[in-house]
Amino acid sequence: MSTTYAVEAEGLVKHYGDKVALDGVDLAVPTGTVTSILGPNGAGKTTTVRILTTLADATAGRATVAGYDVATQAIEVRRRIGLAAQDATVDPLLTGFENLVMIGELHQLARSDAKVRATELLEQFGLTDAAKRVAGGYSGGMRRRLDLAATLVARPEVLFLDEPTTGLDPRARSELWAVLEGLVGGGATILLTTQYLEEADRLADDILVVDHGRVIARGDARSLKRQVGGDNIGVTVTDPSSLDAVAALLERVTGHDATIDRSDRTVVAATSEGVGGLAEAARALAEAGHEVEDLALRQPTLDEVFLTLTGAPVETDDELEESHR
Ligand SMILES: Nc1ncnc2c1ncn2[C@@H]1O[C@H](COP(=O)(O)OP(=O)(O)OP(=O)(O)O)[C@@H](O)[C@H]1O
Ligand SMILES: [Mg+2]
Repeated sequence: MSTTYAVEAEGLVKHYGDKVALDGVDLAVPTGTVTSILGPNGAGKTTTVRILTTLADATAGRATVAGYDVATQAIEVRRRIGLAAQDATVDPLLTGFENLVMIGELHQLARSDAKVRATELLEQFGLTDAAKRVAGGYSGGMRRRLDLAATLVARPEVLFLDEPTTGLDPRARSELWAVLEGLVGGGATILLTTQYLEEADRLADDILVVDHGRVIARGDARSLKRQVGGDNIGVTVTDPSSLDAVAALLERVTGHDATIDRSDRTVVAATSEGVGGLAEAARALAEAGHEVEDLALRQPTLDEVFLTLTGAPVETDDELEESHR
């Protein structure tokens, strides 16, 4: 049995009555890597995850996870995966510790082993201090970390994370990213869905951009950003009279056209070099003696990616329904 790909899917289609939720999705996640499915509301992310985790049947197509067919070998698949669903799965009436022990016992661990594992995971996810509090009282970020810990109790071969940071504030999100980076660094195999390009960029080796049940682009973050014009460097100057010189400098450094916003005293240009481009711009600005108030690298948003890839802004489920009324 091939274990080169932890997840392999070909031509996944899912219909809900007349509604086409998935329209032929192919994907392959090599063992030990992270693949992200990036897309807006209603793109088909959860549907894909539900099929791959045996919670829903595909209308057409086939998929294997850890080498087993999701349609005909569901039990084998379930034994080898962890799923952090979009809606929290932990019991709000139990403490963090009790939740993890219960899950360990569900996975046939002896009670004493389940307790050891629970303690270990609470430590790993920074929840030791909250271990004895009921999960219902946790903050959003803590609950997501507990969800994540719960998926790891049985040491799954493949992890499915459906929008692990949606709804979190920026601080809780970056805390969770740090936790996830730890897992990624430890060689975990993960399929992660997200609406944030930054999240996919930070965590994933490979990104599939999905829209209306189809993959509209794929590649690593670098190549995707190249397709959409890469990051932007923004320079805000103290002296408005230096704007034209700064624009020329930025064009020279980045090789891209610069746009001047005089009311904001800001010049913006795309860069294909990411942080390296920013460092080079900083050096050149200092050498030329321009006084800079702010210098920042910003990523294109998912909206900008969509605009570039589809020529249309992101259309949410609600708007779709509106437009069909
Ligand atoms: N049980 C269902 N019955 C009918 N339509 C459904 C059902 N589940 C999903 N859909 C539709 O299928 C499409 C894909 O839904 P899905 O939940 O996979 O999107 P998603 O990418 O996970 O979105 P979100 O970011 O909002 O979680 C949507 O248009 C959704 O309305
Ligand atoms: Mg979803």
